Amino acid sequence: MYRLIALFLLFLVGRTTAASADFLLRSPDGKLRIVIQSPDSELQYLVVFRDDTLFRPSSLGLILGGNDTLRRFKILSVDSSFAEKEWEPRYGTRSRISDRHHSYNFRLQTARSHRNIAVEFRLFNDGFAFRYRLTDTLEQLDILGELSTFRFSRDANSWWAWADYNTYEKTYQHTRLSEASHVATPFTVQFDSGTCVSVHEAAIEEYTSMTLRRSMTDSLSFDVNLVPWSDGVAVKTSSPMVTPWRVVFVAPRAADLLESDVLLNLNSPAVRDFSFVKPLRYIGIWWEMHLGLTTWKHEGGRHGATTEKAKTYIDFAAAHSMGGVLVEGWNTGWEDWGEKNAFDFRTPYADFDLDELAEYANVRNVQLIGHHETGGDILSYESHIDSAFAWYKRLGIHYVKTGYAGPVNPPTEHHHGQYMIRHFNKVMRKAAQYEIMLDVHESVIPSGLSRTYPNLMTFEAVRGMEWNAWSDGNPPSHTCILPFTRGMAGPMDYTPCIFDAREDNFSAKRIPWNGLDKGNNTVHSTLSNQLALLVVNYSPMQMAADLLENYQSHPAFQFVEKLPDTWDESRVLAASIGEYVVVARRRGTTWFVAGITNEYSREISLPLDFLEQEVDYSVESCTDAPGSHFNTDPESYVLQTGIARATTSFRLWMAPGGGGVVVFSR
Ligand code: NOJ
Ligand code: CA
Repeated sequence: MYRLIALFLLFLVGRTTAASADFLLRSPDGKLRIVIQSPDSELQYLVVFRDDTLFRPSSLGLILGGNDTLRRFKILSVDSSFAEKEWEPRYGTRSRISDRHHSYNFRLQTARSHRNIAVEFRLFNDGFAFRYRLTDTLEQLDILGELSTFRFSRDANSWWAWADYNTYEKTYQHTRLSEASHVATPFTVQFDSGTCVSVHEAAIEEYTSMTLRRSMTDSLSFDVNLVPWSDGVAVKTSSPMVTPWRVVFVAPRAADLLESDVLLNLNSPAVRDFSFVKPLRYIGIWWEMHLGLTTWKHEGGRHGATTEKAKTYIDFAAAHSMGGVLVEGWNTGWEDWGEKNAFDFRTPYADFDLDELAEYANVRNVQLIGHHETGGDILSYESHIDSAFAWYKRLGIHYVKTGYAGPVNPPTEHHHGQYMIRHFNKVMRKAAQYEIMLDVHESVIPSGLSRTYPNLMTFEAVRGMEWNAWSDGNPPSHTCILPFTRGMAGPMDYTPCIFDAREDNFSAKRIPWNGLDKGNNTVHSTLSNQLALLVVNYSPMQMAADLLENYQSHPAFQFVEKLPDTWDESRVLAASIGEYVVVARRRGTTWFVAGITNEYSREISLPLDFLEQEVDYSVESCTDAPGSHFNTDPESYVLQTGIARATTSFRLWMAPGGGGVVVFSR
């Protein structure tokens, strides 16, 4: 239960004129402070972290339809409160999450149009957020834009992907902040002092998503830009209403950034029973289509999804503690992928007997994961979704991967605009009714809604493994940037764990299906790096994505087999954005430590003080071999065993593009 304590911490810190008093807002530990100023009746916020100004006075406001710019305000009242709570997520990187924050609610009236609006701030020790609440009753309300800005105090390093209204599947740029221009969020910045800031948004429910655009006049200032509908309106709504939170994670070091629970804490608790929700690891008939070894479609005699093959996957899953099996390309329509009304989501191909397989999987206690590739054809998908979900439920299928690979139909709308957010949220609610858990590809960026709807398990919204199958691929640094950028938004279905990284091993059998495929693809990481990605990037639906034949009898698969689906505790032991990440995660008394590095080899000495004192732990590790290299020798690895204690340390050597997993158990 929330413990709400009236706060008397809010006080005036300066008074230039009666109309422009400054207010000081503080995080619970007092290290993060925001000063609210109102020069000329505008509302601005300035951010200080440990006596270092991070943001200069930055403006707030909204632009509504009817030529109504909400920029100048009369402050009617300011309320504040303190909340402290612990709650238990259904899955995640820790089993208890603590939420401690100060809230400040500024009730305002606009100077010109006399609208009632509130701006709410929440300050945590590791970040802050604000949102707007429109409190007048209006049947129809158009929001054309937001005047929220982030005016950084000085230049810094930044990691960002180009803003795009239709895809997040991009590699990252690493530039000075002043050289970033139009960026997707999470947008991550590190000052030369080491302090990190990442800007994102939380709880996008009945709104659109945002990008950040550098100001034309100030190279260190970024404005919120809202992804519009085809007619230019950003958000079509009614009021009372509340916007998503504009979130800024703040951390003294890169490693601390990854420890934040601010995003989930800004979303509301679930209001219905989600006890059907369970995390799982899965394998599937998937990578072979991306490689061009088989096809999704049934034509051409190279169909991947056959009943017999699916049974071998189910058998393997049952024998090796894998919870689920995904099968793509089981349903008719792939020959028309990209055209309207291609799929009905109900008709299996002739060589795929879904009824038989559902039964086969059920008796072996393996979850068959359904697949709905919509090609972006929302009009068609929404007309089929009820019958498709009801049918899956009847068959005992409780996990569905959805995909939106293709332009949105209706063709005027963007993947990341309000039309699609309404669609994604509609599918999420419907899935909950049918007790179905979702893995959403080509999704909008997650915003922590999985706290409210835990059946929203994982998302793509990332340039994932598939790009290594048919394009120049992802450079080794990509996965060392992801935790600090895309990862700040929540779990991602990156689909790691490719053991056979040299695609020239079977290039003779490949038929490229995609124009980006030059035929010389590789995965750009070592086997131990691939294994470590399973731990570094937590996902409650976590795929071990390689072909079954590459896992069968592979000694390193034991680490996938043992991997917990959810964790009790997590710590980031070492991290530098774009260079390396080492995490330690605990389930029960067993710790998994996993590290990845970029194209440079490195050795990291890890104190084991997270282990319980005076206890002998047995150690099993899978790490790079002396000759391992993401380019020349991605497949070699070393398995070792030993004994360790809390007082010892572990030296993790990682090859170029390498990594490692070390398991400590008692
Ligand atoms: C793109 C998805 O990201 C990928 O996982 C899937 O295999 C293809 N679309 C086909 O649906
Ligand atoms: Ca994709």
